[in-house]
Amino acid sequence: MNGWVKTFRSNRFIALNDGSTLQNIQCVVDFEKFDDGLLKQIATGAAIGVKGNLVESQGKGQAVEIQVTELIVHGSADPETYPIQPKKHSMEFLREQAHLRVRTNTFAAVMRVRSALAFAIHEYFRKNGFYYMHAPIITGSDAEGAGEMFRVTTLDPKNPPLTEEGEVNYREDFFGKETNLTVSGQLEAEAYAMGLGKVYTFGPTFRAENSNTSRHLAEFWMIEPEMAFYDLHDNMDLAEDFIKEVLRYVIQQCGEDLEFLEKRLLDEEKTKPQAERSDLSLMEKLKFVIDNQFVRVTYTEAIDILRNSKPNKKKKFQYLIEEWGADLQSEHERYLVEKHFNCPVILYDYPAKIKAFYMRLNEDGKTVRAMDILFPGIGEIVGGSQREERLDVLVQKIKDLGIDEKELWWYLDLRKYGTAVHSGFGLGFERLVQFATGMGNIRDVIPFPRTPQNAEF
Ligand code: 4AD
Ligand code: MG
Repeated sequence: MNGWVKTFRSNRFIALNDGSTLQNIQCVVDFEKFDDGLLKQIATGAAIGVKGNLVESQGKGQAVEIQVTELIVHGSADPETYPIQPKKHSMEFLREQAHLRVRTNTFAAVMRVRSALAFAIHEYFRKNGFYYMHAPIITGSDAEGAGEMFRVTTLDPKNPPLTEEGEVNYREDFFGKETNLTVSGQLEAEAYAMGLGKVYTFGPTFRAENSNTSRHLAEFWMIEPEMAFYDLHDNMDLAEDFIKEVLRYVIQQCGEDLEFLEKRLLDEEKTKPQAERSDLSLMEKLKFVIDNQFVRVTYTEAIDILRNSKPNKKKKFQYLIEEWGADLQSEHERYLVEKHFNCPVILYDYPAKIKAFYMRLNEDGKTVRAMDILFPGIGEIVGGSQREERLDVLVQKIKDLGIDEKELWWYLDLRKYGTAVHSGFGLGFERLVQFATGMGNIRDVIPFPRTPQNAEF
């Protein structure tokens, strides 16, 4: 067995871990049989290999142990400098050691759950007749129209070529136009759904939004299914079934890791004031989501609920009373999910003004067939919609928003040739991993997080 040393006690007992499980294997060395110099290299963090006899353990805490007959040290780890010692480290400290933190039980458990979830996602779509589609990473369009993009350029920032008007001349750039890292694979997935029927993307997406929160990353992975002939309610049904199914899978496959993470969370909860503690354990939260129907309410109904609610004794959600059409703040979303319904909520039929250009306009002329799924403790986990399939309406919308129609010529073609009702959604993979593992900060569910002022690794 090869692995990394967790602890080495009394020059005799090595707790060895190979990354496949939380369980360490106790390896017993007879120090009289091995060279002192070799044993000196064995310390927490060292990579070693052992061969020996697997026997019933005489000690407590493990059923079996390896009585070591052969021992090699692949690489030692200096106890003076190796940062991951067998004690509790803070999450902040471990973020600074992102290259080594996977050797802790917490991160190993989280990353195994992450891996299992990714597998479950592919499996779900495969079983349900979807094709996996690779959307481009470098794009020339802003799918969300939010302008929060990372520019991709080969031009010299200090001395870019200029146009006669004195602006940067992107015609001389690598692609002959302005390009950026994708914020979403949706527009390309739409093109593919209109030929393959049901597709999904699962890839990295990039947003240059300066949000330093526990829910935002500048680079995150998004799952985006897109389905021809699906309306908004079909879309909701799929999203709900999908989330439940992949959570069911991790409960089945990652029981030991989830149990460990649940205990970790309980310890963390104990440090919080009583009022902020969660009533449900991690496993109860997962089961709750799996066993209960998500509540579906329109934006307008939600606003009415909020207008008539008092989040605490004195305060009402005052500013929502003024104006129908305002975007919900996270305190509103949390109130709906955690206090009012106490259940995952699908909010739909949002005001057109606060949503992206491609969403299907409702007959009322002011709302669009958008849906967001809000989760307890997470907030928005899914954003999706039925897409505007009518060429004239879409063109008008693009004009009204001042978007350059020429940039979207190919997207408009999809409405010219064989258009049909279609829908899709995007699920933030890290938010799902957060929910499944109970980790409080999104930086702790992705191997090397990218956030403002942070791309050290
Ligand atoms: O709501 P969003 O912006 O929707 C879209 O991008 C659509 N094009 C999706 C589609 O219909 N195909 O993002 C979708 C989800 C959010 O609900 C959230 O879970 C996640 O992506 N997300 C982020 N996750 C981490 N960090 C960020 N900065 C995120 N921004 C969005
Ligand atoms: Mg959204």
